Amino acid sequence: MSDLASRLPKAELHIHIEGTLEPEMMFDLADRNRVELPWRDVDEVRAAYRFTDLQSFLDVYYAGAAVLRTEDDFADLMAAYLRRAHAGGVRHAEIFFDPQTHLRRGVGFPVFMEGFRRAMAAASRELGMSSALIMCFLRDLPPADALATLEQAEPHLEGVVAVGLDSAEQGHPPEPFADAYRRAKALGLRAVAHAGEEGPASYIRGALDTLGVERVDHGVRCLEDPDLVARLRDERIPLTVCPLSNVRLRVVDRIEDHPLPRLLEEGLVVTVNSDDPAYFGGYVDDNFRAVADGLGLDDATLVGLARNSVDASFLDDARKRALHAEIDRVAAG
Ligand code: ADE
Ligand code: ZN
Repeated sequence: MSDLASRLPKAELHIHIEGTLEPEMMFDLADRNRVELPWRDVDEVRAAYRFTDLQSFLDVYYAGAAVLRTEDDFADLMAAYLRRAHAGGVRHAEIFFDPQTHLRRGVGFPVFMEGFRRAMAAASRELGMSSALIMCFLRDLPPADALATLEQAEPHLEGVVAVGLDSAEQGHPPEPFADAYRRAKALGLRAVAHAGEEGPASYIRGALDTLGVERVDHGVRCLEDPDLVARLRDERIPLTVCPLSNVRLRVVDRIEDHPLPRLLEEGLVVTVNSDDPAYFGGYVDDNFRAVADGLGLDDATLVGLARNSVDASFLDDARKRALHAEIDRVAAG
Protein backbone atom coordinates (compact mmCIF):
# COMPACT_ATOMS: atom_id res chain seq x y z
CA MET A 1 0.00 0.00 0.00
CA SER A 2 1.64 3.24 -1.09
CA ASP A 3 2.30 5.91 1.50
CA LEU A 4 -0.04 4.64 4.18
CA ALA A 5 1.61 7.17 6.54
CA SER A 6 -0.05 10.08 4.72
CA ARG A 7 -3.24 8.37 3.60
CA LEU A 8 -4.29 7.00 6.97
CA PRO A 9 -6.97 9.21 8.55
CA LYS A 10 -5.76 10.24 11.99
CA ALA A 11 -6.02 12.71 14.84
CA GLU A 12 -3.10 14.83 15.92
CA LEU A 13 -3.10 15.43 19.68
CA HIS A 14 0.33 16.91 20.41
CA ILE A 15 1.13 19.91 18.27
CA HIS A 16 2.19 23.38 19.43
CA ILE A 17 0.86 25.97 17.01
CA GLU A 18 3.89 28.19 17.69
CA GLY A 19 6.03 25.20 16.67
CA THR A 20 4.51 25.16 13.18
CA LEU A 21 6.09 28.51 12.30
CA GLU A 22 8.20 27.67 9.25
CA PRO A 23 11.28 29.87 8.70
CA GLU A 24 9.83 31.40 5.51
CA MET A 25 6.72 32.56 7.35
CA MET A 26 8.87 33.72 10.28
CA PHE A 27 10.75 36.11 7.97
CA ASP A 28 7.60 37.21 6.10
CA LEU A 29 5.94 38.12 9.40
CA ALA A 30 9.11 39.79 10.72
CA ASP A 31 9.03 42.05 7.62
CA ARG A 32 5.28 42.65 7.84
CA ASN A 33 5.50 43.61 11.55
CA ARG A 34 8.98 45.18 11.54
CA VAL A 35 10.23 42.76 14.20
CA GLU A 36 13.98 42.25 14.50
CA LEU A 37 15.05 38.59 14.58
CA PRO A 38 18.39 37.34 15.91
CA TRP A 39 19.04 35.65 12.53
CA ARG A 40 19.78 37.29 9.15
CA ASP A 41 17.84 34.91 6.90
CA VAL A 42 16.09 31.57 6.51
CA ASP A 43 19.38 29.67 6.11
CA GLU A 44 20.76 31.16 9.29
CA VAL A 45 17.67 30.30 11.34
CA ARG A 46 17.69 26.74 9.97
CA ALA A 47 21.33 26.47 11.02
CA ALA A 48 20.21 27.31 14.58
CA TYR A 49 18.02 24.16 14.62
CA ARG A 50 20.79 21.99 16.03
CA PHE A 51 19.45 21.40 19.49
CA THR A 52 21.23 19.76 22.43
CA ASP A 53 18.21 19.53 24.75
CA LEU A 54 14.71 20.95 25.33
CA GLN A 55 15.95 24.34 26.63
CA SER A 56 18.20 24.94 23.61
CA PHE A 57 15.10 24.47 21.42
CA LEU A 58 12.83 26.61 23.60
CA ASP A 59 15.27 29.55 23.31
CA VAL A 60 14.87 29.49 19.51
CA TYR A 61 11.12 28.75 19.63
CA TYR A 62 10.32 31.72 21.89
CA ALA A 63 12.56 34.04 19.82
CA GLY A 64 10.71 32.97 16.63
CA ALA A 65 7.27 33.46 18.19
CA ALA A 66 8.07 37.17 18.64
CA VAL A 67 7.01 37.82 15.01
CA LEU A 68 3.37 36.88 15.78
CA ARG A 69 1.53 40.12 16.48
CA THR A 70 -1.81 40.53 14.69
CA GLU A 71 -5.00 38.51 14.32
CA ASP A 72 -4.05 37.84 10.68
CA ASP A 73 -0.65 36.46 11.75
CA PHE A 74 -2.29 33.89 14.03
CA ALA A 75 -4.91 33.06 11.38
CA ASP A 76 -2.21 32.58 8.71
CA LEU A 77 -0.15 30.37 11.03
CA MET A 78 -3.15 28.20 11.94
CA ALA A 79 -4.37 27.98 8.33
CA ALA A 80 -0.94 26.84 7.11
CA TYR A 81 -0.73 24.15 9.81
CA LEU A 82 -4.25 22.84 9.17
CA ARG A 83 -3.66 22.70 5.40
CA ARG A 84 -0.39 20.81 5.79
CA ALA A 85 -1.78 18.48 8.45
CA HIS A 86 -4.82 17.68 6.28
CA ALA A 87 -2.53 16.74 3.39
CA GLY A 88 -0.86 14.26 5.77
CA GLY A 89 -4.14 12.57 6.71
CA VAL A 90 -5.08 14.56 9.82
CA ARG A 91 -8.87 14.70 10.15
CA HIS A 92 -8.95 16.13 13.67
CA ALA A 93 -6.36 18.16 15.61
CA GLU A 94 -6.16 19.22 19.26
CA ILE A 95 -3.75 22.11 19.16
CA PHE A 96 -1.66 23.60 21.98
CA PHE A 97 -1.11 27.31 22.26
CA ASP A 98 0.99 29.25 24.81
CA PRO A 99 -0.94 32.41 25.80
CA GLN A 100 1.78 33.62 28.20
CA THR A 101 4.27 33.80 25.32
CA HIS A 102 2.01 36.32 23.58
CA LEU A 103 0.62 38.17 26.60
CA ARG A 104 4.11 39.12 27.76
CA ARG A 105 4.67 40.83 24.39
CA GLY A 106 1.45 42.80 24.80
CA VAL A 107 -0.58 40.60 22.40
CA GLY A 108 -3.94 39.87 24.06
CA PHE A 109 -6.44 37.00 24.05
CA PRO A 110 -8.85 38.58 21.52
CA VAL A 111 -6.03 38.88 18.97
CA PHE A 112 -4.78 35.29 18.94
CA MET A 113 -8.11 33.60 19.74
CA GLU A 114 -9.94 35.33 16.90
CA GLY A 115 -7.11 34.47 14.51
CA PHE A 116 -7.05 30.80 15.54
CA ARG A 117 -10.85 30.44 15.42
CA ARG A 118 -11.14 32.05 11.98
CA ALA A 119 -8.68 29.56 10.46
CA MET A 120 -10.21 26.60 12.32
CA ALA A 121 -13.70 27.48 11.08
CA ALA A 122 -12.40 27.76 7.50
CA ALA A 123 -10.72 24.31 7.76
CA SER A 124 -13.95 22.81 9.04
CA ARG A 125 -15.93 24.34 6.16
CA GLU A 126 -13.45 23.78 3.35
CA LEU A 127 -11.63 20.58 4.40
CA GLY A 128 -14.16 18.87 6.69
CA MET A 129 -11.48 18.90 9.36
CA SER A 130 -12.36 19.25 13.05
CA SER A 131 -10.08 20.95 15.55
CA ALA A 132 -9.95 22.22 19.12
CA LEU A 133 -7.49 24.21 21.22
CA ILE A 134 -5.55 23.25 24.35
CA MET A 135 -4.37 26.21 26.42
CA CYS A 136 -0.95 25.53 27.95
CA PHE A 137 0.57 27.03 31.07
CA LEU A 138 4.33 27.62 30.99
CA ARG A 139 5.72 25.54 33.87
CA ASP A 140 8.91 27.62 34.17
CA LEU A 141 6.83 30.68 35.14
CA PRO A 142 5.21 30.97 38.60
CA PRO A 143 1.97 29.05 39.21
CA ALA A 144 0.32 32.37 40.16
CA ASP A 145 0.95 33.47 36.57
CA ALA A 146 -0.92 30.40 35.32
CA LEU A 147 -3.91 31.27 37.51
CA ALA A 148 -3.88 34.89 36.34
CA THR A 149 -3.71 33.71 32.72
CA LEU A 150 -6.69 31.41 33.23
CA GLU A 151 -8.66 34.27 34.74
CA GLN A 152 -7.84 36.46 31.75
CA ALA A 153 -8.80 33.62 29.39
CA GLU A 154 -12.27 33.07 30.84
CA PRO A 155 -14.24 35.26 28.41
CA HIS A 156 -12.33 33.77 25.44
CA LEU A 157 -12.62 30.01 25.96
CA GLU A 158 -14.80 29.17 22.96
CA GLY A 159 -12.99 26.41 21.05
CA VAL A 160 -10.75 25.53 23.99
CA VAL A 161 -11.25 21.92 25.10
CA ALA A 162 -8.49 21.47 27.70
CA VAL A 163 -5.55 22.93 29.57
CA GLY A 164 -1.98 21.66 29.29
CA LEU A 165 1.45 22.23 30.84
CA ASP A 166 4.58 22.77 28.75
CA SER A 167 7.99 24.50 28.50
CA ALA A 168 11.17 23.56 30.45
CA GLU A 169 10.39 20.37 32.36
CA GLN A 170 13.49 19.59 34.46
CA GLY A 171 13.17 21.19 37.90
CA HIS A 172 9.55 22.20 37.21
CA PRO A 173 7.31 19.43 38.59
CA PRO A 174 3.55 19.52 38.02
CA GLU A 175 2.31 19.75 41.62
CA PRO A 176 2.45 23.58 42.02
CA PHE A 177 -0.09 23.89 39.19
CA ALA A 178 -2.80 21.97 41.07
CA ASP A 179 -4.84 25.13 41.78
CA ALA A 180 -4.78 26.24 38.14
CA TYR A 181 -5.93 22.78 37.01
CA ARG A 182 -8.68 22.66 39.66
CA ARG A 183 -9.98 26.01 38.47
CA ALA A 184 -9.77 24.96 34.80
CA LYS A 185 -11.80 21.83 35.49
CA ALA A 186 -14.40 23.90 37.33
CA LEU A 187 -14.72 25.86 34.07
CA GLY A 188 -15.48 22.60 32.21
CA LEU A 189 -12.06 22.09 30.64
CA ARG A 190 -10.31 18.71 30.26
CA ALA A 191 -6.70 18.23 31.42
CA VAL A 192 -3.45 17.04 29.85
CA ALA A 193 0.20 17.78 30.73
CA HIS A 194 3.69 17.28 29.33
CA ALA A 195 5.48 14.84 31.64
CA GLY A 196 8.29 12.33 31.32
CA GLU A 197 9.86 13.91 28.22
CA GLU A 198 13.10 15.07 29.90
CA GLY A 199 11.70 14.94 33.42
CA PRO A 200 11.50 11.81 35.57
CA ALA A 201 8.69 9.25 35.81
CA SER A 202 7.66 10.86 39.12
CA TYR A 203 6.43 13.90 37.12
CA ILE A 204 4.04 11.57 35.26
CA ARG A 205 2.71 10.31 38.60
CA GLY A 206 2.39 13.92 39.78
CA ALA A 207 0.45 14.89 36.67
CA LEU A 208 -1.96 11.98 37.19
CA ASP A 209 -2.39 12.30 40.96
CA THR A 210 -2.21 16.05 41.50
CA LEU A 211 -3.43 17.54 38.22
CA GLY A 212 -5.80 14.69 37.31
CA VAL A 213 -4.74 14.60 33.66
CA GLU A 214 -6.56 12.33 31.20
CA ARG A 215 -3.62 12.10 28.78
CA VAL A 216 0.14 12.41 29.21
CA ASP A 217 2.13 14.34 26.60
CA HIS A 218 5.35 12.45 25.76
CA GLY A 219 5.49 10.18 28.84
CA VAL A 220 8.28 8.06 27.35
CA ARG A 221 10.22 7.97 30.64
CA CYS A 222 7.38 5.96 32.23
CA LEU A 223 9.43 2.92 31.18
CA GLU A 224 11.77 3.63 34.10
CA ASP A 225 8.94 2.76 36.54
CA PRO A 226 7.25 -0.63 35.93
CA ASP A 227 4.46 0.07 38.43
CA LEU A 228 3.64 3.28 36.61
CA VAL A 229 3.58 1.43 33.27
CA ALA A 230 1.08 -1.04 34.76
CA ARG A 231 -1.08 1.83 35.98
CA LEU A 232 -1.03 3.62 32.60
CA ARG A 233 -2.03 0.36 30.92
CA ASP A 234 -4.77 -0.50 33.43
CA GLU A 235 -6.26 2.99 33.39
CA ARG A 236 -5.79 3.28 29.59
CA ILE A 237 -4.10 6.68 29.92
CA PRO A 238 -2.94 7.67 26.42
CA LEU A 239 0.61 8.88 25.77
CA THR A 240 1.03 11.43 22.97
CA VAL A 241 4.48 10.41 21.74
CA CYS A 242 6.56 12.58 19.37
CA PRO A 243 9.32 10.47 17.79
CA LEU A 244 11.13 13.04 15.61
CA SER A 245 11.00 15.57 18.46
CA ASN A 246 12.61 13.01 20.79
CA VAL A 247 15.48 12.55 18.32
CA ARG A 248 15.97 16.30 17.72
CA LEU A 249 15.91 17.12 21.45
CA ARG A 250 18.24 14.21 22.26
CA VAL A 251 15.75 12.30 24.39
CA VAL A 252 16.95 9.38 22.23
CA ASP A 253 20.05 9.28 20.02
CA ARG A 254 18.48 7.86 16.87
CA ILE A 255 14.99 6.96 15.64
CA GLU A 256 16.12 3.32 15.67
CA ASP A 257 16.52 3.61 19.48
CA HIS A 258 13.05 5.05 20.07
CA PRO A 259 11.06 3.23 22.80
CA LEU A 260 7.77 3.27 20.82
CA PRO A 261 7.84 -0.53 20.21
CA ARG A 262 8.42 -1.15 23.93
CA LEU A 263 5.53 1.14 24.86
CA LEU A 264 3.28 -0.79 22.45
CA GLU A 265 4.51 -4.16 23.78
CA GLU A 266 3.56 -2.97 27.26
CA GLY A 267 0.00 -2.55 26.01
CA LEU A 268 -0.08 1.25 26.36
CA VAL A 269 -2.38 3.52 24.33
CA VAL A 270 0.29 5.27 22.28
CA THR A 271 -0.31 7.95 19.65
CA VAL A 272 2.21 9.45 17.19
CA ASN A 273 2.44 13.24 16.87
CA SER A 274 4.70 15.99 15.57
CA ASP A 275 5.16 18.38 18.57
CA ASP A 276 6.89 21.31 16.76
CA PRO A 277 7.06 20.20 13.13
CA ALA A 278 8.71 23.34 11.71
CA TYR A 279 11.65 22.81 14.07
CA PHE A 280 11.91 19.01 14.22
CA GLY A 281 11.90 18.01 10.56
CA GLY A 282 8.41 16.74 10.02
CA TYR A 283 4.63 16.79 10.34
CA VAL A 284 2.61 13.87 11.70
CA ASP A 285 2.78 11.83 8.47
CA ASP A 286 6.57 12.29 8.48
CA ASN A 287 6.58 10.92 12.04
CA PHE A 288 4.50 7.90 10.95
CA ARG A 289 6.95 7.34 8.06
CA ALA A 290 9.98 7.73 10.35
CA VAL A 291 8.75 5.10 12.83
CA ALA A 292 7.62 2.75 10.05
CA ASP A 293 11.06 2.89 8.39
CA GLY A 294 13.29 3.35 11.45
CA LEU A 295 11.57 0.85 13.73
CA GLY A 296 10.28 -1.57 11.10
CA LEU A 297 6.60 -1.13 12.05
CA ASP A 298 4.19 -2.97 9.75
CA ASP A 299 0.99 -1.58 8.22
CA ALA A 300 -1.22 -3.14 10.91
CA THR A 301 0.76 -1.31 13.60
CA LEU A 302 0.39 2.02 11.78
CA VAL A 303 -3.35 1.42 11.50
CA GLY A 304 -3.41 0.69 15.26
CA LEU A 305 -1.62 3.97 15.97
CA ALA A 306 -4.17 5.86 13.88
CA ARG A 307 -7.00 4.14 15.76
CA ASN A 308 -5.39 5.07 19.09
CA SER A 309 -5.23 8.71 18.03
CA VAL A 310 -8.99 8.77 17.52
CA ASP A 311 -9.71 6.89 20.76
CA ALA A 312 -7.41 9.19 22.77
CA SER A 313 -8.99 12.38 21.40
CA PHE A 314 -11.62 14.50 23.14
CA LEU A 315 -14.08 13.94 20.26
CA ASP A 316 -17.59 12.67 20.92
CA ASP A 317 -18.44 9.05 20.18
CA ALA A 318 -20.27 9.75 16.90
CA ARG A 319 -17.26 11.54 15.38
CA LYS A 320 -14.93 8.83 16.71
CA ARG A 321 -17.05 6.16 15.00
CA ALA A 322 -17.01 8.12 11.72
CA LEU A 323 -13.21 8.43 11.83
CA HIS A 324 -12.79 4.74 12.67
CA ALA A 325 -14.90 3.91 9.61
CA GLU A 326 -12.64 6.13 7.49
CA ILE A 327 -9.58 4.34 8.87
CA ASP A 328 -11.18 0.95 8.08
CA ARG A 329 -11.80 1.98 4.47
CA VAL A 330 -8.19 3.08 3.94
CA ALA A 331 -6.79 0.04 5.79
CA ALA A 332 -8.85 -2.27 3.57
CA GLY A 333 -7.12 -0.66 0.56
N1 ADE B 1 6.82 23.69 24.01
C1 ADE B 1 6.89 23.43 22.70
N2 ADE B 1 7.37 22.20 22.49
C2 ADE B 1 7.61 21.65 23.70
C3 ADE B 1 8.10 20.40 24.16
N3 ADE B 1 8.47 19.43 23.33
N4 ADE B 1 8.22 20.20 25.49
C4 ADE B 1 7.87 21.17 26.34
N5 ADE B 1 7.40 22.35 25.97
C5 ADE B 1 7.27 22.59 24.66
ZN1 ZN C 1 5.11 19.29 23.23
